[in-house]
This record gives sequence, structure tokens and C-alpha cells, in this order.
Amino acid sequence: MKNDEPVVATPATTAPLHGKHIIVGITGGIAAYKAPLLVRLLIKAGAEVRCAVTEHAMQFVTPLTLETVSNNSVYSDLFDRGNTHSTEHIALKDWGDAIVVAPATANIIGKMANGIADDALSTLLLSFRKDTFVCPAMNTNMLDSPAFKRNVAILRNDGVCFIESDSGELACGTYGNGRMAEPEHIARTVIETLSNNKDCDNVLAGKRILITAGPTYEKIDSVRFIGNFSTGKMGFALAEELARRGCQVSLVTGPTSLTTSHPAIERIDVLSARQMFDAATHLFESCDAAILSAAVADFRPENEADHKIKKQNDHDGMTIHLVQNPDILATLGNNKREGQYLVGFALETDNEIDNAKKKLTKKNLDFIVLNSLHDKGAGFGHDTNKVTIIDRAGTVNHCQLKSKKAVACDIADKLSEIMSA
Ligand code: CTP
Repeated sequence: MKNDEPVVATPATTAPLHGKHIIVGITGGIAAYKAPLLVRLLIKAGAEVRCAVTEHAMQFVTPLTLETVSNNSVYSDLFDRGNTHSTEHIALKDWGDAIVVAPATANIIGKMANGIADDALSTLLLSFRKDTFVCPAMNTNMLDSPAFKRNVAILRNDGVCFIESDSGELACGTYGNGRMAEPEHIARTVIETLSNNKDCDNVLAGKRILITAGPTYEKIDSVRFIGNFSTGKMGFALAEELARRGCQVSLVTGPTSLTTSHPAIERIDVLSARQMFDAATHLFESCDAAILSAAVADFRPENEADHKIKKQNDHDGMTIHLVQNPDILATLGNNKREGQYLVGFALETDNEIDNAKKKLTKKNLDFIVLNSLHDKGAGFGHDTNKVTIIDRAGTVNHCQLKSKKAVACDIADKLSEIMSA
């Protein structure tokens, strides 16, 4: 996604956020001066917007400005006698379809991660369970602090989507990462996520779908393993999206700290590629489709020691002989019956499209999702991803950088299209 791409105003009924209620939470950072522009962009996209602000935010942007651009009253005080309801935060959490905290200071992120509710906005955030976007803005040193990183990890695990900050000149006069993402970029991410929210999918509803996610760990001995940096976010986002569309999902996942929330997701935890292979090949027999997003280790140590391997002397190195793991995707491709659909992922560094097309054919897939390694915000550990979807007919769809939830929607849309054909 390019920050300078305009968000185009669309007629009310076809506007992507038509009928959506969005709360813009504003906290006390200099980037608060950009919040009115974000409010306008969301309204242009068809949303109704209400603002909730902290006391410090009002040092940077006035309630009058926000009231004027949003055409709604601003929520700033838990005990304001002018609030429409006596528990305004509860009324607002029912009203809102999503909250966008922009800018989000280290302070509000710390409160969110630790369940602290001591003012209007933090109380609202604690009670809110729907799509939550956080747009951090702070000095690079704060962004790099262990405490901030811990808080971000907690919130990501809770399903919060971070719209990452940019590098540039900061208010303190230094240059570095920490500038709030541009309002156009924030609006576009919100639009892509919310406008894709399909609650009803007649093709996918009732289908049984297998998903693999996360890394695999290949044991060297009783305390060591070979693994990779996959967090499982893409696969978990897919599982949630397909369950929301009415699918019965079997999610076979390698080690991850992520949790699932939808009751239609059956989770099967595995450690190694061979365990994932056993679970996936067994489950695929009774599934209508499978999407394999796991980062499966291609190799494992030939021998696994049942004790901790000791150093032999102070200088000698160590050689581990690796053997190939079974290819789960290729096996499912071989076993695929008429009426079953198979989707794979590809991670390529050279001749990306050509290599992905070869993988599609070789593994007998219906379409393949090519991951970008070249874009900031894409790949392992990020909340956003940039993918290219290639199908058997040779159609190549280059998607923009967007939240993994929005990417999951694109993949679910493609699966729905292919299964209805
Ligand atoms: N995959 C799998 N089992 C394996 C290896 C990969 O199911 N043992 C799946 C992944 O989940 C992904 C796809 O195969 O959907 C492609 O993975 P990738 O690592 O890009 O390619 P490989 O097939 O391993 O080929 P190479 O590493 O040579 O590019």
C-alpha cells in the first residue's frame, strides 16, 4: 500500500463503509492533529463516526473540531452529565462496529494490554470486543522499549490489529520510526478489513475446511529443535474468517501462542512436520477443501537424541544430518478427489510468479497464495501481509498490503469463487 493513494469518495449506497459505525479514539500525541482528517476519510467512505478522546488528546485537537467534522458529540469524560447515557462507554461499545485508536500513545497501549480502565477511552476499549485498530505514534526509543514490545505482543495475541508507524522526522526533532501512519493508509486498511466482512457466504456455508498454520519444530534432542519464525497469524485469520462464513474448520497448528475464539473451529495442536502430516492427511479425507498456510520444516534431524547432547570437548563443532520431511501439500494434491479443493502458499525469493505457478501445477492446487518478502509490514509476525493470488487459469491478482484479516477475506472470496464455478 502506498500512503499517497487517495481514498476516493463514493456515492452513499455503494460506499464501502455504508452503514458502519466507527469510533475514532484519540490520545495525547502530536499526531492527534491528523485525527480530523482520518474522521473525514472514514465519513467519505460511508461510515458514521464518533470520537472518544483522552484529556491529553484535547491539548492537541479540540472537541469542537472533532464534533464539527464527525457531526456527532465527542466522548471525553466518564462522568459528564452531558453524556447521552449514564454508562456511555457501554452504549458506545454496542453502537460501534470498530474502534481505530489514532494516534495511540505508549500509555494507552500499556493500559489496553493490562486491562486498565481509568478514563472514558480506556474504559470503552476494555469493554469493546469487535475490530480494534491501533496506530502507534511515539519516539523511537519508546517504540523500541521492552515494555512497549511486551504490550504489543499481548494485544496482538488478543486480536488487535496494529497499523504500524512510519519512519520520518519526529516531533522531538530526531529522525526515526514512530510517526503515525498517514490517515489515508489507516482509512484504507480499515475500509479493506470492514468492507470485506461477509457474514453470509452461500457457497462456503456448511463446508468442512482443513487449515494448517504456524511453524513446525523438529527435535534435535530432548531440549533443542529446528524451527522457523512463523507465528501462525495468517492461518488463524483464515480459520476465523471461514468459521464466520459458516464453515466447520479443522485447524492443525504448530506451536504458537495464538488462541481461537469461534466455536466452529476445532484446533489440533502438533509439534513436528510428521505429526502435522498425519493429522492433515487423516482430516482431508472428510473435508471439502484445504488451505495449507503452515511453514513446514522441509528437513528434520535424522536421529533425535533422547537426552541432552553434551559437548565432546571445547573446540569441536557438531554435524547434524538432516533428512527430508514429507510434503503435506503435495500428498494432499495427489490424493485430492473430484469436488475437493486445495490451496497452497508459496514463499519465493527469485522468479516469484514463475516458481509459484510451477508449484501450483506440481502440487495439483486450485490456487496458490504467493507471499511477498520484499515489503515492509509483510511476512512473519506482522499483522499485515502482501500477497499475489494465482489460479489454474493463470489469473494473477496482485493484492495491496493489508491486514491479515483482510487477506484472509480475499482468500476466502477466491475459494468461494472457485468452489461455485
Ligand atoms: N508445505 C507442506 N509440507 C511441506 C513443505 C511445504 O505442506 N513439507 C506447504 C506449505 O504449507 C505451503 C507450500 O507447501 O503451502 C509451499 O511451501 P514452500 O516452503 O514455499 O515451498 P516448498 O514446497 O517447501 O518448496 P521450496 O522450499 O523448495 O520452495
